[in-house]
Amino acid sequence: MNRDKPIFVTRPHLPPLKRFLPYLEEIWQNRVLTNGGKFHELFEKELAEYLNVEFVSLFANGTLGLLTSLQALEVEGEVITTPFSFAATAHALVWNRLQPVFVDIEESTLNIDPGRIEEAITQRTSAILAVHVYGQPCNTVEIERIATKHNLKVIYDAAHAFGVRCNGDSFLNKGDLSVLSFHATKVFNTFEGGAVVSHNAHTKKRIDNLKNFGFIDETNVVAAGINGKMNEFSAALGILQLEGIDSVIERRRLIAEKYYKFLDPIVGIKCLKPSNVDRPNFTYFPIIIEDAYGESRDELYWRLRREGVIVRRYFYPLISSFPMYRNLSSALTEMLPVASEVSERVLCLPIFPDLRADEQDLIIGLLTK
Ligand SMILES: Cc1ncc(COP(=O)(O)O)c(C=O)c1O
Repeated sequence: MNRDKPIFVTRPHLPPLKRFLPYLEEIWQNRVLTNGGKFHELFEKELAEYLNVEFVSLFANGTLGLLTSLQALEVEGEVITTPFSFAATAHALVWNRLQPVFVDIEESTLNIDPGRIEEAITQRTSAILAVHVYGQPCNTVEIERIATKHNLKVIYDAAHAFGVRCNGDSFLNKGDLSVLSFHATKVFNTFEGGAVVSHNAHTKKRIDNLKNFGFIDETNVVAAGINGKMNEFSAALGILQLEGIDSVIERRRLIAEKYYKFLDPIVGIKCLKPSNVDRPNFTYFPIIIEDAYGESRDELYWRLRREGVIVRRYFYPLISSFPMYRNLSSALTEMLPVASEVSERVLCLPIFPDLRADEQDLIIGLLTK
């Protein structure tokens, strides 16, 4: 194989260009580029069907979906969240002038630990912003119990969870709102994009207004909303991507199975496997590097990179150690022992539909030493 070409942790999936061209021709003809055009409406409908949810609002990206969700629910004061996620999760709180309160994660799922949530609740707490990390669902039952008891809103950052199925139901129906990302690096991409799943027509309407600057009609603006709209190009790509998503996930499954087969026997490497889901999406392939491996996570990270395998340390550093959060009392390492440990040991390996067999063999060979 050509070793001059790096193997990245992911490679965006795209349909054949010739299948996209008719959509482009139609957009050129219609001159409707954004603001809820034909493809936006169609994609929104098809997406709701695919995800088995009733109400979807498309967004230009997941971050704008998070910002708008917090605004739509009128969240105030403090919000309980996880430090083990991508920066956007906590940043969305700051953009809404909310204070993140970090709570440690569970070792089994790497999601927020419901057993630690109640001790972090104060009179100022108004919501929980949990993340289905690597597409592994949170303990939604416990989170819902705590939220009901303390009258808190629940938003799920489901940026990693596209297409995950759980007990025949969509866990995107849990909580008050769920937010998806269709960023280029995600299992399902629309170049950039995202969506908010809501549970009634009134909330969807409010979210749709907020993502359009707060306009409710031509002349009336009811809130200081934002420009969160998905354009027609992304929506058209979304329609095409939906057709191929099940085979994309199946291909990812096959790659994951091969990694399990060869990496499970290696002493000191622990593959993190999805649990309690009917269909995982294999959006990432995280492994934990234990002491017994004989090489630290960072040594391995740099060795693989020198060999042209661009692995990623998702999520290192923890969000709570970023300069804008590290002075919060909830950001202390002692308060977050599990997240701190995992963040020092986790490594995400390349997984994407067109990862070739010889490329995967090379990666496995490098890990086997
Ligand atoms: C957990 C998580 N939340 C939010 C986002 C933000 O999504 P977007 O890039 O679509 O704004 C991402 C990824 O980018 C993510 O991984």
